[in-house]
Amino acid sequence: MILNVEENNYEINIKNNNDIELRDYILENKNRKFAIISDENVYFIYRNKLNNLLREVDSYIFTFPQGENSKSFKIYEEILKFLSDNDFSRGDAIISFGGGVTGDISGYVASTYLRGIDLISVPTTLLSMIDSSVGGKNGINFNGLKNQIGSFYFPSYVHIDYDFLKTLDKRNINNGLAEIFKYSVLEDKNLYLYLKENKELDYEQIIKKSLEIKLKYVRGDEKDKGKRQYLNLGHTIAHGIEGLSNYSINHGEAVGIGTIYMARASYKMGLAKEPFYLDLIDSYKKYNLPISYEFCTKDILEIIKHDKKIKDNKINIILPTEIGSCTNKLVSFEELEKIINLGKEI
Ligand SMILES: NC(=O)c1ccc[n+]([C@@H]2O[C@H](COP(=O)([O-])OP(=O)(O)OC[C@H]3O[C@@H](n4cnc5c(N)ncnc54)[C@H](O)[C@@H]3O)[C@@H](O)[C@H]2O)c1
Repeated sequence: MILNVEENNYEINIKNNNDIELRDYILENKNRKFAIISDENVYFIYRNKLNNLLREVDSYIFTFPQGENSKSFKIYEEILKFLSDNDFSRGDAIISFGGGVTGDISGYVASTYLRGIDLISVPTTLLSMIDSSVGGKNGINFNGLKNQIGSFYFPSYVHIDYDFLKTLDKRNINNGLAEIFKYSVLEDKNLYLYLKENKELDYEQIIKKSLEIKLKYVRGDEKDKGKRQYLNLGHTIAHGIEGLSNYSINHGEAVGIGTIYMARASYKMGLAKEPFYLDLIDSYKKYNLPISYEFCTKDILEIIKHDKKIKDNKINIILPTEIGSCTNKLVSFEELEKIINLGKEI
């Protein structure tokens, strides 16, 4: 199945076991060089597949240690040097092959090296398939803070082959599902009920559904100044939790906790009529997702102060009013502190 993102000029191809179409896409421009960027873990699992896919083209592989700490200035610089040492020019291309960490750093490299070279994205985690590979955001962490440096830059092609999920461990599958739960709370009760059943999942359908929801919010607000901010449900707290836990809590897991806290606060503030956050907690437990994290609100606020969307000392937060519907509220830090405390306290 193909999703066409006409406004940003790229195509998302969602299919199982689909090496052929990736190979065809690469061979369409086979005279250029390809730099494959991947973490060591993913490269080790898929090196034979990659060799096969790239056997007729001039390709160069760069790998880095897996994990969030690689979204760093150091690795960014190493990749730039690798491209420069191998004489990559503007007509050449980068293939990001991995999860969200690989996608975020590859995207930032692609957008800045020689002021921008072509980016092909091959996401291999559920989280990167349903979220980070689409929408154009990329970046690295800096000064102990998430995604402090980055750009908006779109790939030319996104190749989603959910056969990659066969090698992904349960925790990382569930990490992706937490972001899909977020989409469902934002927009789609049927999707929520489907996930809640916890039966065997139809990946093609849930990936498609998730990306349709994401694209609906990104379209027309690529630079994140208006409706796209709804996608940040749970994220304001999540970025703090990720940092405070030294990334032992994954991105999706932290977003899940953030979503529960916002739903609980929303009920206590009278914005949500029903305490549906209790149902949300039950659903998350079914997937072994964490439902809370011990932190001091002041520490989280210290991190939130660096959020990219703060304007005039205020921040826009997203509060669910029921499953499938949310509202937004522009709040001061004092108000935010109260809301976080409402969300935390059981
Ligand atoms: N740019 C965006 O719009 C956006 C959106 C959401 C999240 N993100 C970012 O994405 C990152 C998290 O992404 P992630 O959860 O994919 O993390 P990740 O890239 O670190 O991947 C998680 C783990 O899975 C392994 N892995 C990847 N694919 C595999 C496969 N097919 N089989 C076996 N193992 C595999 C990796 O080696 C790693 O250990 C965070 O940095 C987050 O900030 C970005």
